[in-house]
Amino acid sequence: MSLAARCRRLIADLGLTGDLYSVTPLGGGVASDIAVLNLDGQRICAKFALPKLKVEADWFAPVHRNRAEYEWLRFAGSVVPRAAPRLHGWSEAENGFAMEFLEGEDVTLWKKAMLRGDPVRGEAGRVGDVLGRIHAASTAPGFDAGAFRNREDFHSLRIEPYLLYTATHHPDLAERLTALAEALFASGAVLVHGDVTPKNILMRGAEPVLLDAECATMGDPAFDVAFCLNHLILKAVHVPGLRNDLLASVDTFWRSYAAHVSWEVADALETRVCALLPALMLARVDGKSPVEYLSEDARDLVRDVSRPLVINPPTDLARISEVLRENLS
Ligand SMILES: Nc1ncnc2c1ncn2[C@@H]1O[C@H](COP(=O)(O)OP(=O)(O)OP(=O)(O)O)[C@@H](O)[C@H]1O
Ligand SMILES: [Mg+2]
Repeated sequence: MSLAARCRRLIADLGLTGDLYSVTPLGGGVASDIAVLNLDGQRICAKFALPKLKVEADWFAPVHRNRAEYEWLRFAGSVVPRAAPRLHGWSEAENGFAMEFLEGEDVTLWKKAMLRGDPVRGEAGRVGDVLGRIHAASTAPGFDAGAFRNREDFHSLRIEPYLLYTATHHPDLAERLTALAEALFASGAVLVHGDVTPKNILMRGAEPVLLDAECATMGDPAFDVAFCLNHLILKAVHVPGLRNDLLASVDTFWRSYAAHVSWEVADALETRVCALLPALMLARVDGKSPVEYLSEDARDLVRDVSRPLVINPPTDLARISEVLRENLS
């Protein structure tokens, strides 16, 4: 069935009224189809889980990921109202949902802004603040984790391609990487987004809007923090003009985030972030999903910096920034 036909069925199923003037595909990755719909002159966004991924394994049900994404966005929006797109409903029959399409002069994908060297304007601190609020709210009594028992999906989409695959390329680090993988799999402390990267964050003026929560699961909050900080560090390696500001952003992010850590001792969480972060740095070079923008020299530098830190991680993030400053100067 064509994307336009699926969009037509989705809006019917959601009870959205009006004429569908156009359907424009919007990038999107291997796991989903995403499109902008012009519905009676109003633009909205539709996202579907791709059924063809069902062939990867019998239990790999896309409907879970699409619903988990929708429920994550809904929960995030209930905690920080403008931190997720407004939602227009989820359709079980279509494995899809509709949401507000964010556009306009004040809307920029954070990744795009960094890669073109736009000045840093406190984005990291705001993202840390929003993420900390969402994590904290998911530890409150009465939180419904029903849609987020997805650790098997998280294993396939995150733990295996990043940590375990990287271990096969660095056998001397395999024991450490496997231990990190096992600890992540075992944890269910908070609602984890699973893909907090600048590619999935729109800045609406100064406010971050988080997208793409397909990997949402109950898990270790250290994963979301380390995943996002890793991108700031890789951009610091790649964009010399932003280097100092982005390394300073690591600290800003952590301080804003840590202010919300009420469910455990923040230092203990920081220690886990520090252990995971170098492993994720290495994974973005030698894992299954390497970043596309680093040169060969930059990749070597990331390996040289991260490997010793995987073996002997510090316990505070300031030390990781310091090691990067020493190596990048
Ligand atoms: N509600 C929205 N409003 C505006 N732009 C959006 C919206 N949702 C998604 N986008 C844009 O489309 C891109 C892809 O969306 P999303 O990340 O949800 O899809 P995906 O299929 O999981 O893609 P990928 O694998 O590339 O991350 C985003 O990076 C963003 O630029
Ligand atoms: Mg995305």
